Amino acid sequence: MMQITTYATAERAAGAAARLVLNRLTDRPDIVIGLPTGSTPVPLYRALVRAYTRGVADFSQATTFNLDEFLGLARGAVGSYRTFMETHLFTQVNLHPRRAHVLDGAAHDWKREVARYEAQIAQAGGLDLVILGIGRNGHLGFNEPGPTLAARTHRVVLKPETRRANAGLFGGRWRDVPREALSMGIGTILSAREVVLIATGGAKSRIVARALHGPVTTRVPASLLQMHPHVTVVLDRDAASQL
Ligand code: PGA
Repeated sequence: MMQITTYATAERAAGAAARLVLNRLTDRPDIVIGLPTGSTPVPLYRALVRAYTRGVADFSQATTFNLDEFLGLARGAVGSYRTFMETHLFTQVNLHPRRAHVLDGAAHDWKREVARYEAQIAQAGGLDLVILGIGRNGHLGFNEPGPTLAARTHRVVLKPETRRANAGLFGGRWRDVPREALSMGIGTILSAREVVLIATGGAKSRIVARALHGPVTTRVPASLLQMHPHVTVVLDRDAASQL
């Protein structure tokens, strides 16, 4: 079942997503959450940090797994999603560092790294909740559109549009954005017991309409969410404008 909710502004959409996350965290302090990066979740993380600072959120027993990471950047490198997460969430709340997982894009043996990540997710009991953004091309995590999709965590080649969308993390130079990444697979994402998809801004309106109401196809990875039993879509008015 997919519940679609629309808010007047991106800030209000982020507030609604934060309330959902905080409710789940209250119900289940040892929740396992999948986390996105990108510009969309920044106001959500800001709201979660505010809740923690006000003393109404406790992340001490929670576990997180990020969706993806660039390949070949050193740990802690500028532009890495690990660094993004440290900045926007991990150092701002009381998540235990050993329970805040991000794929290691600097791992020598990427095959071992993706297998290790899948095993860690399984060992944690699977994802209770995964929070997702959506790429303008319909990608989820770094699962890019294509004739097929990999089910489990794997190595991906990024589309030029995805590298351009990430240029901001690399001083605006899209050619400095790595060409490859590691990403949770679409099956890993769909195995989450609950999904929250957030999209804001007019640039996402076309892909949101295709993902939510178009045919289910690997050419629009987010369309596979139509088959998930428990999805909440959180939109601002601009992203919802073509529904
Ligand atoms: P964005 O990225 O939030 O920066 O638009 C979303 C995504 O690619 O999943």
